[in-house]
Amino acid sequence: MTDHGDNQQGRNLTSAYLSISGMAKAYRGTPALKSVDLDVNEGEFVALLGPSGCGKSTLLRLVAGLLEPDEGTITLADQRIGHLPAYKRDIGLVFQNYALFPHMTVARNVRFGLDMRNMPRAEAETRVADALALVKLEHLAARMPSELSGGQQQRVALARAIAIRPRLLLLDEPLSNLDAVLRASVRTELRELHARTGLTIVMVTHDQVEAMTMADRIAVMSDGEVLQHDTPQQIYEQPASDFVAKFVGTPPAAMLQVDRKIDGRFAVGDTIWSPSPELEAVLAPIQRVAVALGLRPDHLALTSADAPHALPATIRTVEYLGAERLVHVEAGGQMLVIRLSADEPVVTGAVGVAIVKSPPVFDLTTGLRLGRAG
Ligand SMILES: Nc1ncnc2c1ncn2[C@@H]1O[C@H](COP(=O)(O)OP(=O)(O)O)[C@@H](O)[C@H]1O
Ligand SMILES: [Mg+2]
Repeated sequence: MTDHGDNQQGRNLTSAYLSISGMAKAYRGTPALKSVDLDVNEGEFVALLGPSGCGKSTLLRLVAGLLEPDEGTITLADQRIGHLPAYKRDIGLVFQNYALFPHMTVARNVRFGLDMRNMPRAEAETRVADALALVKLEHLAARMPSELSGGQQQRVALARAIAIRPRLLLLDEPLSNLDAVLRASVRTELRELHARTGLTIVMVTHDQVEAMTMADRIAVMSDGEVLQHDTPQQIYEQPASDFVAKFVGTPPAAMLQVDRKIDGRFAVGDTIWSPSPELEAVLAPIQRVAVALGLRPDHLALTSADAPHALPATIRTVEYLGAERLVHVEAGGQMLVIRLSADEPVVTGAVGVAIVKSPPVFDLTTGLRLGRAG
């Protein structure tokens, strides 16, 4: 086992390919990152997901060596790289604006990093051909960037980053300059590229759909911190906090604030509710702290107002989405969304909401998920 040289607070970092530890960065005294720890396995595709300004690009630039940290260490393939200049880290970078050289052909653009490394011409040309083949642009090698679409330019930028055979590929919002149709196809291509090359990829995005569909694991960030680093399924089904639950999913989870009332009945705003015994068990922490249920459409079904244990509600709007409809209901002044298939009849007026699957419960004060009962 490799010795990392110093005590890294008892965390087992020896197994991770990229290991970021205690990384902190402030701009003019304002913290942008607050002691971030993050491990990425070899061959993994990790998304850094969070709202604008939460510190994603700062973290990526620190790994790339474009910024100096105030504190923290970075280990890549068992080597401390924090002291290395960017060009010695063997890291490929692709930004939102593709930054191709406009006066160079596609092939020259892709060869640029190889020429910088004084690679012999024959080997460089093989690498350029391989990289262009990987992004399916062999046939456009002689074109100028201005003769390419936005999506093609982005693929050239990718080929340029891959051609150096980086130990790590960093992508900062690589799809956000593309239109919706192109974004979807480049998303798939990037995923395929990852599968073909086995590259370790860290991608910054503020788009939860992008993160959910592309990444093996997602690090959800807020305000300079990583809140949760997990698989998309874990992030979706076991969100660590209400922030994560509300940031991920289409539509995002609704937080239903529930107050205890007497005789086993609960208050949701001014609505009185008698939940099932199973759900009462889930709501047990309510005796100690103020709670909210994180309810996604998959937790809910529409029933009649007088169905046993149904939460009394009123339909407000129905969104037609082709294969399905999203029914927005109000319960005790709070909004919930229920999914119906297109052929299910929609009732109107007073309805009941059934909670058909055990939902996560959050402490309203801390925002953290409480251990599920049962
Ligand atoms: N060069 C800079 N100088 C001063 N503040 C910066 C600089 N770069 C980023 N920031 C600030 O640091 C915070 C994190 O920025 P950034 O890492 O770019 O976030 P993200 O990529 O998640 O949108 C933001 O508040 C941003 O305004
Ligand atoms: Mg950014």
